Amino acid sequence: MAWNKKDLLGLEYLSAEEIGLILETAESFKEVSTREIKKVPALRGKTAVNLFYEPSTRTRVSFEVAAKRLSADVINISTETSSVRKGETLIDTGKNIQALKADIIIIRHSCSGAANMLAGALDISVVNAGDGWHEHPTQALLDIFTLKEKLGGVKGLNVAIVGDIAHSRVARSNIWGLTKLGANVTVCAPRMLLPSQIERTGVRTSSDLDEVLRNADAVNVLRMQFERDEETAFPQQLDYYKKFGITEERLAKAKKGIVVMHPGPINRGIEMSSGVADGGNSVILDQVTNGIAVRMAVLFLVAQAREVKA
Ligand code: CP
Repeated sequence: MAWNKKDLLGLEYLSAEEIGLILETAESFKEVSTREIKKVPALRGKTAVNLFYEPSTRTRVSFEVAAKRLSADVINISTETSSVRKGETLIDTGKNIQALKADIIIIRHSCSGAANMLAGALDISVVNAGDGWHEHPTQALLDIFTLKEKLGGVKGLNVAIVGDIAHSRVARSNIWGLTKLGANVTVCAPRMLLPSQIERTGVRTSSDLDEVLRNADAVNVLRMQFERDEETAFPQQLDYYKKFGITEERLAKAKKGIVVMHPGPINRGIEMSSGVADGGNSVILDQVTNGIAVRMAVLFLVAQAREVKA
């Protein structure tokens, strides 16, 4: 199949075939990062702009590395030092970046729908690097890529997503992607961190972590997003760790060979112990490495789609 979308906004909007195409393209790009000269000319002459309205380490750097490995020029805009501070709107900022003849905007924003709104206003490509509680599509793609790499496929896998489901764009994108590819997804969290009617997305819900881990081939552990909802009475951290933290003792009773993932940044001692984060079941740093190939694939495909349309 051919890719024909100028933007990547969320996995909700992609078919299983389109997700498969991104993952196949990522597989072909993964080898580039193992070369002595880690570069291919696929996006030579193109300009990618990282426009991040929220903090990021992994995603911003990973997009920059991915674009540079494709030989694109990369510009990082810090909203702290840009005209956003003078009240410029998102659309005005986007139109000015377009007028500067950039080809791709990679946006992270605290408002759900920000990437969709920008994509609708611009001719150039927009890639969603996380918008509010909505989606974080490249995180889910790299999670799925890592699952395929470690477990050989996704169809029929039992995947548990544990933690702050209510505030998590990572959970939403993973649910869309995994269910489209035929995985069985269970979300496990305290009731107050499970969105109402989440079952409608095709997932099973549970608050019994030990039971979930006994049947899971993989567990994706989410970060508690203290910065998003300070007003809400989050469960006491120690109480949360006791009931929902992934510890060595818990893992010893889990399904043999269970793969442990986390999108980062990790709150050690809240979502999981350091022993688990750094232990033999953890693929957390493999996820980070795979993010480069996945983002190379996304940048390549959206840029190519624009060229075909032009
Ligand atoms: N996983 C993730 O989005 O991490 P950053 O916030 O560091 O980009």
